Amino acid sequence: PSSMPPGVAFLSGQFTAENGIKKITRCGDLSGVFYDRAAWQAIPVDTPVYRVEMLRSPQGEGELFVGITHLQPGRVGDEFYMTRGHFHQRREQGEVYFGLRGTGLLLLQNEQGVARLEQISPGSVHIIPGFTAHRLINTGSEVLSALAVWPSVAGHDYAALAHGFALRVIEQDGKIQAKEVQHG
Ligand code: PA5
Ligand code: NI
Repeated sequence: PSSMPPGVAFLSGQFTAENGIKKITRCGDLSGVFYDRAAWQAIPVDTPVYRVEMLRSPQGEGELFVGITHLQPGRVGDEFYMTRGHFHQRREQGEVYFGLRGTGLLLLQNEQGVARLEQISPGSVHIIPGFTAHRLINTGSEVLSALAVWPSVAGHDYAALAHGFALRVIEQDGKIQAKEVQHG
């Protein structure tokens, strides 16, 4: 006896079965995330920026969550659409991202504030170590979809990066550019 496990349709980057939680994050939910506040305010609050679909899975120590993030292409001013980004509440817990569709960047930042970027594209595998904040950035012209697997006990800490990451990714002179943020 066997049963059909859930799958991912590579062309659409979506789960083949829709059985879990879905959450849409809209432009209005992302106050303070993009540096150009006037450009952010000019976008209708109900504009979808990203959507997360999750499989149902057990919860508790040792269990794993599986989710797919679908990040729309677009910009707020010259800054590309991105997820809010977070540390895990349990800082030591890592995560794996896997590129499914579209192209972009995975922004990683350690607790010392040192940031780096990895290119994400269909098939790319990203190991996010513990103690490392992470954010997806869509620098392409199609939806960026990435599968993520993380411990269900990890939790999300958004507050620790409420003042932003150390790098911003913008389009300038028709090119994708990463800018260091000057604090203080
Ligand atoms: O677990 C993850 O890191 C992802 O599933 C993210 O939660 C997802 O991409 C949405 O980003 P954020 O939680 O930063 O809004
Ligand atoms: Ni995470």
